[in-house]
Amino acid sequence: MAHIPLENRTVWITGASSGIGRSMAQKLIQSGNRLIITARNETALTALKQSAPDQVEVVVADIADSNSIAHMRESLRALTDHIDTVILNAGTCEYLDVSNYDTDLVERVIQVNLLGMSRCIQASLELLKSSSKHPHIVGVSSAAALTGLPRAEAYGASKAAVVSFLESLGLDLNRYGVDVSIIYPGFVETPLTDRNDFSMPFLMDVDTAVSLMIEGIEKRKIKITFPRRLIWSLKLMAALPEKLRFRAGLSMVRNTG
Ligand SMILES: NC(=O)c1ccc[n+]([C@@H]2O[C@H](COP(=O)([O-])OP(=O)(O)OC[C@H]3O[C@@H](n4cnc5c(N)ncnc54)[C@H](OP(=O)(O)O)[C@@H]3O)[C@@H](O)[C@H]2O)c1
Repeated sequence: MAHIPLENRTVWITGASSGIGRSMAQKLIQSGNRLIITARNETALTALKQSAPDQVEVVVADIADSNSIAHMRESLRALTDHIDTVILNAGTCEYLDVSNYDTDLVERVIQVNLLGMSRCIQASLELLKSSSKHPHIVGVSSAAALTGLPRAEAYGASKAAVVSFLESLGLDLNRYGVDVSIIYPGFVETPLTDRNDFSMPFLMDVDTAVSLMIEGIEKRKIKITFPRRLIWSLKLMAALPEKLRFRAGLSMVRNTG
């Protein structure tokens, strides 16, 4: 299996102001990469840059805004003539309450998780094609993409769409020598999951999760999944006959009385 170290590369990472993205950025700084970091929170990004000012550049952007494509493209071009790895990690999670149905919520989540990812690809694709170091797009989906789960109408749909989107992209970019990998994390301790008010099986600390992500990225795995026990449970559920799968899903619906 291929092994291309995530070292001494020019890496653009989105969602680097918090959680998985920030921890990933910190690890990639330690391994000698040149980083361009993106999110909306300029203060958090600047603090990260200050930890390694010669290695890190900041591009502040709201990927939910369609104007961000031109802004990000121009900002990236001003900083570099190529990008070796793009890590599309920025994302948001909101759960739908069907008793207070809200399409605006669905739109907010899709805007960031799916359309935001597409905007980032549009902004960086030419720079990726200019890489001489076997360029790589890495997109963060979720274990929630594996089967329909309660209250995940927006989040689950956005992450399942990300899988389909990246699978197609991997096929179409192959002729340009650009690899595409998809990450399916289970529950990872971050500000995003700190908000959850339900029990999270096999919750993983962020450093362990990021180490597994880097290991998979270096092996150029097409799909990077963890933790194993959660992924197998969800894959098993997805493989059940429809009625059994429905019943398993129903058992997760909480009784809000
Ligand atoms: N934690 C988990 O259990 C888990 C599980 C599966 C998948 N994931 C996925 O992993 C990724 C990272 O999540 P996390 O847990 O690290 O969450 P987090 O701590 O909330 O971080 C989310 C990051 O995305 C950025 N972001 C959100 N909206 C943005 C926007 N409109 N424009 C630009 N950046 C935006 C945030 O930055 P700003 O707020 O500064 O913009 C932040 O840096 C997400 O895609 C998430 O869906 C997480």
